[in-house]
Amino acid sequence: MSRKNLIVFASGSGSNAEKIIEYFNDGSLAKVSLIVTNNPCAKVIDRAQNHGVDHWVIGKSDLSDSKFIEKLNSVNPNLIVLAGFLLKIPEEFIRAFEGIIINIHPSLLPKFGGKGMYGRHVHEAVISAGEKISGISIHFVNESYDEGKIISQFSCAVKENDDPDSLASRIHSLEHEHYPKTIEKLLLNGSV
Ligand code: GRF
Repeated sequence: MSRKNLIVFASGSGSNAEKIIEYFNDGSLAKVSLIVTNNPCAKVIDRAQNHGVDHWVIGKSDLSDSKFIEKLNSVNPNLIVLAGFLLKIPEEFIRAFEGIIINIHPSLLPKFGGKGMYGRHVHEAVISAGEKISGISIHFVNESYDEGKIISQFSCAVKENDDPDSLASRIHSLEHEHYPKTIEKLLLNGSV
């Protein structure tokens, strides 16, 4: 049986994208066949190149463009994985890839989700609210920011002396550990 195709979308560093590439590299279940980014300077491009994975740089309007959607469809993705992708996913794109787009969010949704809640902003808000626990949420993507069905959540402590950077680093470790495994489970369960 041929390996399932993962397409990872990322706008910045791409450390999650790289963990996913590495996790599936040695196995027979799946492979990251393509990285898509909206940022021509993103570090994720170097990471993709280091692993010999193709990348495409796209513009915002591509996501709702039928020609782009067709081109992406021709890669036959089994799963589209958003990992730090900052553009809003338009309805046309969601309809075209219904049920096979997932995202990771660095908080325990529905807390600290929605427009403007990304990266450092999330951790600042968690600390300002005096939360004792934070974590990550992996969820399907629908038209509303961070509101799609939750697939899995994992938590960690917010320590008394945490600043947004120290919390971000704990959250990143959690993401690196669980995003690839959650993707593997989805693929094995046959739900995508
Ligand atoms: C992660 O914290 C993820 O939860 C969020 O964006 C960040 C991306 O980090 N959506 P990286 O680019 O994978 O290092």
